[in-house]
Amino acid sequence: MVLRPLERLEAKLRELLGERDVDGHGLTHALRVRRLARDLALKVGADVEVVEAAALLHDVARALGIEGDHAERSASIALPLMIEAGISEEKAVKAAEIIRRHRYSSRRDVASLEEAVLRDADMLDAMGAIGVARAVAYGALRGRSLYDLEDPFAQRRNPDDSKYTLDHFYVKLLRLKELMNTEEGRRRAERRTRFLKLFLEELMLDLEGL
Ligand SMILES: [Fe+2]
Ligand SMILES: [Fe+2]
Repeated sequence: MVLRPLERLEAKLRELLGERDVDGHGLTHALRVRRLARDLALKVGADVEVVEAAALLHDVARALGIEGDHAERSASIALPLMIEAGISEEKAVKAAEIIRRHRYSSRRDVASLEEAVLRDADMLDAMGAIGVARAVAYGALRGRSLYDLEDPFAQRRNPDDSKYTLDHFYVKLLRLKELMNTEEGRRRAERRTRFLKLFLEELMLDLEGL
């Protein structure tokens, strides 16, 4: 059976990473972001192959535990993998470029429709129920406490997500909705943000012992 380039790429990624995904940036994240990115690309008319390839590989360096700027490293690893899988050089270069620029903390202006789509898909996967699960898993792995005993919801202090997982909601997750680049991304971000808020409301009741 002849595989399409994207299927070959996914097979290669599965082989490289295995199913283990402890910090929320492994294979399962890549596959979720791929699906979201595909949907968004079809909605906005972005190049679907570029976007799916970039989504599959955008965090590959992180998933492999490679040190350094994970966006830069992932882009370097991704380019030869895409070419090897049969993606045209022009598209592979474009995908590598949006991988190189995807890092949340770099907050660069979006340079193309494909970049807008990858960023939105990546942000969506940090929201909603999956966002809660990933934040908790990541915080635990980093040795962070779930919340501050005195002020769990950072009502009387500045949130600090290097210390408390719950603070990550205030530092980043609840703000992502405002950073979406596409209409469809914004629409989906609404529901996921509603869930983040609901989770916090319920948690507040739990912590009050109700
Ligand atoms: Fe990333
Ligand atoms: Fe990511």
